[in-house]
Amino acid sequence: MATESYGQLVMELRKLRLPTIAELLDSYAKQAVTSNMSYVDFLSGLVFEEVRSRERNGIESRIKSASHSVQTKFPIPKSLDDFDYGFQPSVNKKKLAELCNLRFIDNRENVMLLGSPGVGKTHLAIGLGVKACESGYKVLFTTLNDMISVLMSSMADNSFPAKLRTFIQPSLLIVDEVGYLPVPKEGANFLFHVVSKRYEIGSIILTSNKSFSYWGEVLGDNVIASAILDRLLHHSTVFNIRGDSYRLREKKELTKDLGSNAFGKEEKEPN
Ligand SMILES: Nc1ncnc2c1ncn2[C@@H]1O[C@H](COP(=O)(O)OP(=O)(O)OP(=O)(O)O)[C@@H](O)[C@H]1O
Ligand SMILES: [Mg+2]
Repeated sequence: MATESYGQLVMELRKLRLPTIAELLDSYAKQAVTSNMSYVDFLSGLVFEEVRSRERNGIESRIKSASHSVQTKFPIPKSLDDFDYGFQPSVNKKKLAELCNLRFIDNRENVMLLGSPGVGKTHLAIGLGVKACESGYKVLFTTLNDMISVLMSSMADNSFPAKLRTFIQPSLLIVDEVGYLPVPKEGANFLFHVVSKRYEIGSIILTSNKSFSYWGEVLGDNVIASAILDRLLHHSTVFNIRGDSYRLREKKELTKDLGSNAFGKEEKEPN
């Protein structure tokens, strides 16, 4: 190919927003000559590379936007492939595999991950979130307290409807850490807004170190807590993870006197 027309073609390809083809054109053209490639194979090879590259970029940008839309981010990348079921046998592998087909998102169902510290709740929530990003779903990750503080401060500048929309629009909303930090007064109302707006419209994955019977205490309001749970649990899969902290797997002796936390009660799974 003449240098001039090659340069011109690369420029036109970039204008047409085909950067991968522009980048690979030279090596593909050389390969086509040496391997006696047909025109169709030459073109389809380049188009294939462009499409794959766009798919990869799409996944990356969805993972980024899950992380950066509202102050918070996937705290750390986690994959379901790295989850050691042997360490945590109370996680029902079949039930989790069923969630991996992501039908729960299409069916607007929820996933509740309950258990004491370090049992893998956030790991599983992020793993499912990343999987959803990879499959093209819009995902937002937040802790409960971050979400409440975003919504609370939106009242001051009248941006509440817009901020609420950011928590309603994604196909999957992950709300991490319900139960650790005290929920400020009004906080339960904000959670109710989000849960009721998403009810049967969008999925929620929620993690908590507190069993459901403590949620009135956690949210400072029994009536709202029960209305929130009623909606969350109607279409849901519940994982009640009972086991040791993965973080302390080699330091069990050091913490044996801490005693159990509120997550001591038997919880009946609705499903
Ligand atoms: N079964 C497991 N296999 C592999 N890694 C695990 C497993 N369980 C937990 N981990 C790892 O242990 C650490 C703690 O897990 P994670 O943050 O998910 O716990 P958690 O249940 O959310 O705890 P907390 O209630 O304190 O937030 C993370 O680094 C996570 O990747
Ligand atoms: Mg966690």
